[in-house]
Amino acid sequence: MSVHKSGIKKVTTHQLAAMKERGEKISMLTAYDYSMAKIIDGAGIDVILVGDSASNVMAGNETTLPITLDHMIYHATSVVNAVDRALVVVDIPFGSYQGSSTEALRSAIRIMKESGGHAVKVEGGKEIEDSVKRILSAGIPVMGHLGLTPQSIYKFGTYTVRAKEEAEAQKLIDDAKLLEELGCFALVLEKIPSALAERVAKELTIPVIGIGAGSGVDGQVLVVHDMLGITQDFKPRFLRRYANIGGMMTEAVQHYIQDVKAVDFPNEKEQY
Ligand code: KIV
Repeated sequence: MSVHKSGIKKVTTHQLAAMKERGEKISMLTAYDYSMAKIIDGAGIDVILVGDSASNVMAGNETTLPITLDHMIYHATSVVNAVDRALVVVDIPFGSYQGSSTEALRSAIRIMKESGGHAVKVEGGKEIEDSVKRILSAGIPVMGHLGLTPQSIYKFGTYTVRAKEEAEAQKLIDDAKLLEELGCFALVLEKIPSALAERVAKELTIPVIGIGAGSGVDGQVLVVHDMLGITQDFKPRFLRRYANIGGMMTEAVQHYIQDVKAVDFPNEKEQY
């Protein structure tokens, strides 16, 4: 465990492994900007994922495909600037690691050097083996991501549950074992049957973090805007909303508009 200049003990990949060993669940949320990262890091989250879901949540794109490496570095830098404790993992975006292992390494190095992130995440198994190996060989921690991998949405065709059939489930197990053997420090499993996710978590020694993968894994991740109720339309079965911040914001903005129109804001104390 390393100690930040603030005196706060920072979460490391080794600490996550120790959490799995002692059966302590790992909490992970996304963040894409300084203010949100400051709040969730201060609340004690273990891992912050600068997810390429920024493409949907921050930019309003339908998929994660359009976001670029430069965009991801911008978001990751803003998050790193806010964080004292959490481990910051940054998604390598679509098109920045699948082409060749050289390109993968170059992208991962840019993320680590320019944003100060602590680790990278990539989607896929066997098909990106060389890229994963090359990034790891440079001493960069890698988190894997299997199951529903949104960067492959046009191959899947839908966002429904993955690996329900035997062949796909077996490939997922093989890929998970491969990623562990290569040296990944953790694995995200997205939207797969809970029994399969639990089996993978039991068979692997590295932490397995689930999203829509049930409670038998080593930790959970959600998109922060979804769990806070800032995004309102996205309502998958696995999502628990912990607040209605979107509703609160709408009310606050309506209140402000009323006050401005009624010349109630600013009042005498709110001016010079
Ligand atoms: O980009 C993202 O937010 C993710 C999580 C859903 C795991 O990859």
